[in-house]
Amino acid sequence: MNNKSMDLIEKKDAIKRISKESWLVGKDCVKDDVYMECVIDILDSEPFQKMHKYIQHGNTSTMEHCISVSYVSYKIARKMNFDYVSVARAGLLHDLFLYDWHTHAAKTGNYFHGYTHPAVALKNAEKYYTLNDIEKNSILRHMWPLTPIPPKYKEGYVIVYADKYCSSKEVLKESRIVKNIVGEF
Ligand SMILES: [Fe+2]
Ligand SMILES: [Fe+2]
Repeated sequence: MNNKSMDLIEKKDAIKRISKESWLVGKDCVKDDVYMECVIDILDSEPFQKMHKYIQHGNTSTMEHCISVSYVSYKIARKMNFDYVSVARAGLLHDLFLYDWHTHAAKTGNYFHGYTHPAVALKNAEKYYTLNDIEKNSILRHMWPLTPIPPKYKEGYVIVYADKYCSSKEVLKESRIVKNIVGEF
């Protein structure tokens, strides 16, 4: 299944079904019909859901991290009249590298996951989904400024920001020191 193959009725059915998944229940994005219609074909696909078995930060799976980045990016992009559909879709796919990065270096000898995973994610995303130029570039450049080439489109900067914002929250909410200082959040 890819983003060109669902009509409106299929989308509505899929949204109803997927909204009951434990990894979506209670999330704000489920109540946002516009968002869900933009991304339902990706949420309802196997390659995307594979990310649930890999941990990204703390106890957040890579799939949950991507949902957070996608929805934060989408809300910013809508507010700013940017291409929020591309932003929402690229956000979901930006970390589709499909391996456990904690053990990746020991297994493969690649100690540069931070630098190399955007290209791996893009390759996987192109294999399973139909992407436009904004989506492709936003996935490839999302680690800027760690990787030196910045995004080409303003939408890409939204994803750069949302990725850092969500990653920080995921790491900090697991930090005992932070919890002791500011409490749970
Ligand atoms: Fe990433
Ligand atoms: Fe990320």
